[in-house]
Amino acid sequence: MKLENLNSFTYLIVLSFVSLSINADTLYTELGGSEGINKLVTKAVEVSHADQRIAFLFEDSDDEELIIQISDQICFLSDGPCEYDGQDMDEVHSGMEITEAEFDIFVAIVIDAMEYADISHSSRNKLLALLAPMREEIINQ
Ligand code: HEM
Repeated sequence: MKLENLNSFTYLIVLSFVSLSINADTLYTELGGSEGINKLVTKAVEVSHADQRIAFLFEDSDDEELIIQISDQICFLSDGPCEYDGQDMDEVHSGMEITEAEFDIFVAIVIDAMEYADISHSSRNKLLALLAPMREEIINQ
């Protein structure tokens, strides 16, 4: 093979890798983009209000704003086109004294909401892995 042919061959391989990485799904797209994320967050907030074990924590919440902030945060964490400009997790949950049990109930509600939003098992696990490290910042504040 001549050198100039090898170069164009190499060029083609590089191009294929570039296009593969451009088309690669981010977790954001796996979650259904902004529509899917909004659907799951709206459901999780709605169910939290209906669950007597944690409803009292949401009594004074501004749900419209809460849904926007949690959706932005998930969009940002999942490599979507968003910035999260809300407060830090320890600040916003400060004074709520959320217990481990209440945290686990909320996570179970989020899991059900992801199922409701038709998100695959593997994508659900990826999102949970991103949320899990926040536990220490949220409980007992
Ligand atoms: C990984 C889990 C969680 C995440 C990612 C999360 C995320 C957030 C975000 C982004 C906000 C809004 C921040 C802002 O307005 O600047 C917020 C507020 C809030 N969160 Fe969480 N949260 C989590 C767990 C929980 C749990 C376990 C509870 C209760 C059981 C809870 C109850 C609330 C309430 C009541 C508010 C305030 C709503 C308001 O004042 O309008 N959160 N959370």
